Amino acid sequence: MRPPGVYSPQGDTSLLCEIVGREAPVGGARVLDLGTGTGAVAMAAARGGAARVTAVDVSARAVLAARANALLRGRRMRVLRGDLFGPVAGEVFDVILANPPYVIGGPEPAVRRGGARAWHGGPGGRRILDRLCAQATRHLAPGGTLLLVHSAFSGVEASLAALHRSGLRARVVARRPEPFGPVMRGKAAALEARGLIGHGQRHEELVVIRADRDAAGGQDERRDERRDEERDEGRGEGRDEERDEGRAGEGHAWRRSA
Ligand SMILES: C[S@@+](CC[C@H](N)C(=O)[O-])C[C@H]1O[C@@H](n2cnc3c(N)ncnc32)[C@H](O)[C@@H]1O
Repeated sequence: MRPPGVYSPQGDTSLLCEIVGREAPVGGARVLDLGTGTGAVAMAAARGGAARVTAVDVSARAVLAARANALLRGRRMRVLRGDLFGPVAGEVFDVILANPPYVIGGPEPAVRRGGARAWHGGPGGRRILDRLCAQATRHLAPGGTLLLVHSAFSGVEASLAALHRSGLRARVVARRPEPFGPVMRGKAAALEARGLIGHGQRHEELVVIRADRDAAGGQDERRDERRDEERDEGRGEGRDEERDEGRAGEGHAWRRSA
């Protein structure tokens, strides 16, 4: 079921579900689905044999939908409401899966409610992405993997750099061209005017980024060393600080319509 305003599983959802089996087998794993919407990705993880599935969404309707869908399909999962990692503060996971809002919006203030919150990524599309990339490390168990899907328009290099800065090894593991859905078609003229897409362009590229935490924790030590060096040099102060971490359908046959 999908109440109004809850993200309809689309091409990004199905791409992420497909890649999970290949890049981060979830059998026996503790899995977190961040920004779960209807719970489609979380349920794919449950189907894949995850030991424990946790799903988080900031939207009350999405939380209700994910809980109902899990119940209807007989899947056990914990669904929590809140902002990004806020509801799982202090917890770590073997696999984190995320299809966050990433569509480039206008200069309007942050979207706090309504259906747009499912896709609106702020002026550069990175309002949620930057926070997620900075905060993921501390919620990955040693040897854990983050799989993150977003549009190439939102900045692949920016995600890779942010993940590297936070101490993870990150690379692109999948790319797929996708025709614009209704949201992007509605924005096409404005994006053209801003020079963000080519004239007449009506396709975007979806990318899946994989980021791994070292198994032995050596990554943490190297990151700490790097931080110390940067502090000594008088730059990078507070770079990784958590600024605003708050508390606040089965199958792969979905089509993108955003
Ligand atoms: C693009 S949708 C993806 C939904 C689902 N995972 C899927 O792939 O079909 C992004 C989801 O993130 C949720 N979201 C937006 N901002 C969030 C935040 N700050 N913390 C947690 N979830 C958030 C939205 O409510 C929405 O359900």
